[in-house]
Amino acid sequence: MKYEKYALITGGTSGIGLAIAKALAMKKVKIIIIGRTKKALDRVLLEINPLTKCIGIKLDLKQINKIDATIRKNLSTFYKIDYVFNCAGIASFDSIVNTNYKLIRDIYHVNTIVPLLIIKATLPWVKLSTKPIIVNISSNQSIINSQYNAVYGSSKCAINHYTRSLNLELKVYKIKVFTFAPGPVKTKMLVRVLNDLNINQIPEEAISPEELANFILRYIHSKKPQGVFFTNKELINE
Ligand SMILES: NC(=O)c1ccc[n+]([C@@H]2O[C@H](COP(=O)([O-])OP(=O)(O)OC[C@H]3O[C@@H](n4cnc5c(N)ncnc54)[C@H](OP(=O)(O)O)[C@@H]3O)[C@@H](O)[C@H]2O)c1
Repeated sequence: MKYEKYALITGGTSGIGLAIAKALAMKKVKIIIIGRTKKALDRVLLEINPLTKCIGIKLDLKQINKIDATIRKNLSTFYKIDYVFNCAGIASFDSIVNTNYKLIRDIYHVNTIVPLLIIKATLPWVKLSTKPIIVNISSNQSIINSQYNAVYGSSKCAINHYTRSLNLELKVYKIKVFTFAPGPVKTKMLVRVLNDLNINQIPEEAISPEELANFILRYIHSKKPQGVFFTNKELINE
């Protein structure tokens, strides 16, 4: 049916990406989730398939040279993609002394390079949507300088930059690119980060992934402009 909407989500097996997938499923958007384990994908498909059609693509996004071919193969039967949500990410907060090259490379690959490659690979389908929307998840750490966030924070900085540039480049296809840069969100990533930093308490300003997902979906469907947005404070003030 031509009026159906389709969304591709990375990181849709957990946290923010999963909350976005569930919120879209309630609106009957058909969903494609990229996840790195069959077990996690099966669990999510079981949850979402009663609400809408959801398919899983198994891919470890660290294998950046497989992204283009995997997308082309799996989207070959689709006639368009309306939404791309780049939610997959990894975080590590530690001193540069303790951070080796492999970890730096993995963080930059998954957080910074992968969203660009996903945007590039999905473009032939996204161009065919009448209201195409791309959403990236950055972090408030992209503008906060603190001890131990040199690698993670800088990996997110680049997303803010390329979002603005891509909006200029892709407006020829009417594609809107949004980046949301949240503060703490109660997901397994936050638990890991707090653990790394020896912090026992969830920060007061932390929001749930469902609150963030609902905010993002309301925002991108409003008449507000595309660009880069820092969300937790705005969410609380909404
Ligand atoms: N939580 C926060 O406080 C917070 C704040 C600001 C920004 N963010 C950003 O929000 C995004 C979502 O994070 P989250 O908080 O929802 O964390 P999460 O629950 O840990 O989810 C991260 C997702 O990324 C996927 N992923 C990680 N590495 C991958 C890889 N190599 N290949 C494929 N998938 C991979 C994970 O898959 P697995 O389930 O297989 O691990 C998971 O689905 C991230 O970009 C993060 O940087 C989070």
